[in-house]
Amino acid sequence: MSRTVYVNGAYVPEEEARVSVFDRGFLFADGVYEVTSVLDGKLLDFHGHAARLERSLRELDMASPVTMDELLAIHRELVERNGVTEGMVYLQITRGAAADRDFVFPDPDKTPSTLVLFTQSKGLIDSAAARTGIRVISIDDIRWGRRDIKTVQLLYPSMGKMMAKKAGADDAWMVEDGVVTEGTSNNAYIVKGNKIITRHLGTEILHGITRAAVLKFARESQMEIEERPFTIEEAKAADEAFVTSASTFVTPVVAIDGVSLGDGTPGAVARRLREIYIDESRKAAI
Ligand code: PDD
Repeated sequence: MSRTVYVNGAYVPEEEARVSVFDRGFLFADGVYEVTSVLDGKLLDFHGHAARLERSLRELDMASPVTMDELLAIHRELVERNGVTEGMVYLQITRGAAADRDFVFPDPDKTPSTLVLFTQSKGLIDSAAARTGIRVISIDDIRWGRRDIKTVQLLYPSMGKMMAKKAGADDAWMVEDGVVTEGTSNNAYIVKGNKIITRHLGTEILHGITRAAVLKFARESQMEIEERPFTIEEAKAADEAFVTSASTFVTPVVAIDGVSLGDGTPGAVARRLREIYIDESRKAAI
């Protein structure tokens, strides 16, 4: 049975879904997105994702074609129609399809935004990466300067994942001015002694919704947190490391640039935070 996707107000089979060749998402990467996880057929942290989406739109002066309440209803309808119990909902809003290719933004009254959503069914809890941990390499961060806006400009993160694959690793951490910014599609953390260290928020990284939740749970569990930049050398000497994202929750990192952390197996802090995150967000899912 084919998947039902949502395009500009209509629920259609994926084979029939169409977006214009003049869509600015396609021509200029002029679009923003969100990925929201689904567990037990329910959405994790929907309101966090909706708030960040509104911020991304505002920062780019882009209109939303629907309200956040309508967006919630569309998410739920798609999850229901596709029978998703575990997986993700992908959402993208672009500045629409102007009449022609033009760098100048079109008049929003004449060119409505494009809204597309689709679901992905996938086991998230029982993952090989969570069991064994992932190996990361370090690469230069050459992305644009507004990484706090969740745009669909994902070419460099894709290239980073390919560099990692070529090097026999699973993912890459990006380094700018000598310090780690974040992973290609996740936020990065190290653990030293009883301290969790992760880069502070700013325009250099995406303000992860999972990051906010995990730091809150860590604080509630009396864990110590330091929000500051760290170097790859400091990371290699850490007791453990991990990454967070909506689709991977908390995933342990067991090696950086070929150097094993601790005994080379997932660390206790990462394992515990993963458990807490899954338990708590499952309870709060809507
Ligand atoms: N990526 N940093 C980057 C660069 C990301 O692309 C992501 C998410 C995160 C984590 O954010 P959150 O916890 O809100 O998912 C950090 C999504 C999952 C993706 O592109 O698939």
